[in-house]
Amino acid sequence: MLHKIPGLIFVIGIMGIVSGCDQKPKVMSSSTGLMPQRTYDVQQLALGQQVYVANCAVCHGDNAQGASNWQQRNPDGTFPPPPLNGTGHSWHHSTEILYDVIANGSQPGQGNMPAWKDRLTKEQIDAVIIWFQSLWPDQVYAAWYEMQQRK
Ligand code: HEC
Repeated sequence: MLHKIPGLIFVIGIMGIVSGCDQKPKVMSSSTGLMPQRTYDVQQLALGQQVYVANCAVCHGDNAQGASNWQQRNPDGTFPPPPLNGTGHSWHHSTEILYDVIANGSQPGQGNMPAWKDRLTKEQIDAVIIWFQSLWPDQVYAAWYEMQQRK
């Protein structure tokens, strides 16, 4: 079906209207509603990657792949760092929840995720979320996007 009407899919946003503090990723809906368009602000992505490499890669891995045993609790009952690249469960969380975990760190007993709100600006946290979301496969991103619309 879809391949017969490619002309109907709107691609806006390419014009690069940039707003650094917009929490939502630059997503354009397709007219079919099947797949959100994924367009990213290159500068925001670059900032996000920089923030990730400097602060997050040490625990979440160079490619945001997480610890190999991320689903198994540590001996003390906490969890190892999960993947952020779409193979874990990060996509079950809205942007607000992702922001909250990053800003405030782990809940007590849950893990050793540090709080970043005193070390990173809102702009940096927004950018790092956008960066790891850009790694998510289309299917994962679409599922997250749909959930985000429903809340
Ligand atoms: C000292 C190790 C460590 C560092 C550094 C670290 N994290 Fe984490 N992170 C964790 C652990 C452990 C968890 C899992 C426990 C939890 O969810 O509370 C976690 C969980 C998360 C989650 C929730 C994921 C999910 O699927 O629920 C996000 C999002 C996240 N981290 C992002 C980041 C970002 C972005 C940075 C860099 C700014 C970062 N982390 C730096 C250890 C770390």
